[in-house]
Parts: sequence; structure tokens; C-alpha cells
Amino acid sequence: MSKMLGAASALAMCVVAGQAMADPAGCDGEETVIRFSHVVAASGHPKGDAAQLLADRINEQMEGTACMEVYPNSTLYDDDKVMEALLLGDVQLAAPSLSKFEAYTKKLRLYDLPFLFSSLDTANAYIGSDEAKDLLSALESEGYTGLGYIMSGLKQFSANKPLETPEDAAGLKFRVQTSDVAVAMIEALNASAQKLAFKEVYGALQTGVVDGQENSWCNIYTQKFFEVQDGITETNHQVLAYGVITSQEFLEGLDEETRSQFLKIVDETLAEANNQVAEKEGECRQSIMDAGGTIRELTPEQREAWVSTMKPVWQQFEGDIGADVIENAANTSAN
Ligand code: LMR
Repeated sequence: MSKMLGAASALAMCVVAGQAMADPAGCDGEETVIRFSHVVAASGHPKGDAAQLLADRINEQMEGTACMEVYPNSTLYDDDKVMEALLLGDVQLAAPSLSKFEAYTKKLRLYDLPFLFSSLDTANAYIGSDEAKDLLSALESEGYTGLGYIMSGLKQFSANKPLETPEDAAGLKFRVQTSDVAVAMIEALNASAQKLAFKEVYGALQTGVVDGQENSWCNIYTQKFFEVQDGITETNHQVLAYGVITSQEFLEGLDEETRSQFLKIVDETLAEANNQVAEKEGECRQSIMDAGGTIRELTPEQREAWVSTMKPVWQQFEGDIGADVIENAANTSAN
């Protein structure tokens, strides 16, 4: 027997924006359909794998009540459009990179500060903290509910020429996400930044619209960016993590029992997925090398030059984020 949701938008009828859609999970149209749209690879990527794990759990444990479908690789929406689609009830879950919430809150700019976390472990410890959970609540006034974080990894620079020192980046054009912190960071290198949607990055690198980009090992590998770049420099300069969000209307439309089962599965799945990130990112790094990609490691002195060039941008964003919030995040120790 199906459970009908209170909010009409919450009851997805396998129709998006008026168009009949493929139904990858085989939802029968009577259960509550939870569509999760994202932009990365369906598998072999921390977010793609976490989304699929969540779908598997929901489809098994909530069978007859709810059914989840995953739409990877920007097949449904890019990260800008998905925010609108959530409020319209066309999708029920999304996990844009934290860099993409600028239009909704400036608090999450925290995560883009270069060299904020000393390691993936400290970044993971922070996103599990109460303070990190509070930061997501900044989205509530916009009609969204943050359910948690998916960690992806630390970011590396790549370009069409070798990058060893910050001076090597001067004069180049880098693709960045829709983040003003990223723009400021690139400008600190005396380079220029161009905001582009994720699905456009490979083409922009290939055709020389931009010279370089910054991303996680798994994005660089699964999107094949390394094939159209001279090499990747292991800067580990920023964290790439995602805010898993839904609309308040959807969540409030679920009956209490369904909502609490759904939220429990989400919590457990995210915690489990985030524990596997270091391993997955390591595998993507190795796969790039196996496929003939060039990875440049930095000496401590070279890395220090990148830190001292980019870290001063923190000051520009202290007012948006809060000096105390920055200090707490920067002082996080690994679990
Ligand atoms: C990007 O746009 O580079 C990333 O946010 C894509 C993603 O979701 O990892």
C-alpha cells in the first residue's frame, strides 16, 4: 500500500518538468519517489557511490513506502538548476559542492578558504561536528534543509603547463566553481578565473578556453581532465565537499515515521560513505598515474610558497563567515 505525501510536490510521478522520464530504479509510481540529481560520475567517485549506496538502502529498507532514483552526470540538472528543481518538487535530493551555495548563504564560504584543513582527516572530523551541522541551517530561510555532508577530498591544480611554484600559474586562466573565494584565490596567483558549470570543464580545457582547473582526484580521473592537461600538481589546497539538501516542503510532507526512517538511513549512509573517502581518492590518484597522467608532488618549501600566496584571501571573507567560525575550523584535529 502506498503512502501519500501531504505536499503535492513531494509525490513525484515519474514526470519531471512535464516530460516522461526513464525510471532507473523501477519505481512503481505509487511509492514516494525520491529523485537524487547530481553532476559527477555514477560510480568510482565518493559522491556517485554515496548516492547509489543511499538509493540501495532506501529501496531495500523502505520498499513499499519510498523509492529512490539517482540521476548522475548532470543528466537531469546542473548544480544551479537543481536548487530551483528542489523547490519545485521536481527532485527531492541534491548534493551540490559547498562552493555553489553563494547565492543562498555566505556562511559556507568557510569551506572554500585555501589551506583551511591540514588534511582530509581533519576536514572529515570538522564536517561531523555540531558547528558544521549548524552551518547548513543557514539554508533554512531559503526553503531548504541540509541533511548532512558528503566529503569528496582535497583539491589539486592542473594546467596545460607544469605548475610547481605559484609564479608558474601567473597569467593563466583557471576554471573555478561559482565561488567568489575561488576567484579571489586564483587572482592571488596573478591568474584569472572563469566560473563554468562542471559539465563544461572538459571541453573548456580541451579547446583552450581555460588553461587549467582545480578539483579532487576522483573528478580529475572520472571526467578525464588529466587527458587534456600537462599534469596535476598535488597542492591539496582546498576541500571539496557537498551539502546534501532537500526541500523543507518535501521533508515536512512525509509522515513522521517515514521521515524518521528516511533521515536515519541518510545519516548512517553518509557516515559510512565519508569513512571510505580517503581510500577512494587514493584509488583515483593511482588510476590517473596508471593511465599515464603526470602528477607533480611539491617539496615542503614549494608547498609553503602556495600557502603564503593564497592563504591571505581569508581576510577578505572573515566578515561573511565569522572569525570565530574560521578559527574553530582551522583548529580542528583529526578524530
Ligand atoms: C565542480 O563543479 O568542479 C564540482 O563541484 C563538481 C562536483 O560535484 O564534484
